[in-house]
Amino acid sequence: MVVWNLIPLLALVGNAFATAYPPKNAACAKLDIVFTGLPPYHPLVVQQGFNSSVIDATLRADAANIIKAGYNLRVVLMGPEQNLSVLAGQMEGNHWDGTGIGYGVRGAHLPELTIRLEDIIKLYHSRAPNASLMFDYSSDSALWAIKRRVPLASNCTDSPGKDLGFNVFCDIYNARLLKKQMSWG
Ligand SMILES: *[C@@H]1O[C@H](CO)[C@@H](O)[C@H](O)[C@H]1NC(C)=O
Ligand SMILES: *[C@@H]1O[C@H](CO)[C@@H](O)[C@H](O)[C@H]1NC(C)=O
Ligand SMILES: *[C@@H]1O[C@H](CO)[C@@H](O)[C@H](O)[C@H]1NC(C)=O
Ligand SMILES: *[C@@H]1O[C@H](CO)[C@@H](O)[C@H](O)[C@H]1NC(C)=O
Repeated sequence: MVVWNLIPLLALVGNAFATAYPPKNAACAKLDIVFTGLPPYHPLVVQQGFNSSVIDATLRADAANIIKAGYNLRVVLMGPEQNLSVLAGQMEGNHWDGTGIGYGVRGAHLPELTIRLEDIIKLYHSRAPNASLMFDYSSDSALWAIKRRVPLASNCTDSPGKDLGFNVFCDIYNARLLKKQMSWG
């Protein structure tokens, strides 16, 4: 009796392990990705030696390609002068399958951005614990990062993803103030 009762339970447990999350090889326009990074014209981007207009163009082109490839994408660009609650607010109301952080934050040799990287990871972990966390290595490799972690089942050329927003939060005045306080200003 007892043994028979356990079988459906075991089947359920087995299923929970079999259904990896986020899903591998999902259908077109079924995965929601949030990707954060620095705004192209932010002083800390210039400080790192990047050309803002080039970064702006490559980030936007990469975002367009991600959507074309079949992913639903929200980009949230913000400097460390912004309260992390801005990103938390941008995550509300969606079930995220992938959470990304751009190279400008991760690769910076700047303490303020390293702290921000840790804080973003902590936020992602608490708000979207099952999502795949991913990093890119440049301003035009987010698609590479996403495809690697959450591949889609098919070619989505004819059914692209949804544009969930390319949202820039940049307060140049406070960003400059922060840069000065960090004493490289
Ligand atoms: C940034 O790149 C653009 C386009 O290639 C170029 O026109 C501009 O002079 C560059 N700016 C700087 C500060 O190097
Ligand atoms: C950031 O926002 C949170 C929540 O709105 C608030 O509690 C906190 O004081 C803010 N931090 C700063 C440094 O403004
Ligand atoms: C994460 O995945 C587990 C196992 O599939 C599930 O039980 C849990 O509800 C999920 N959590 C969230 C926040 O989606
Ligand atoms: C996807 O399909 C389109 C048109 O149907 C084709 O042009 C493209 O090469 C395909 N891409 C891949 C990666 O197979």
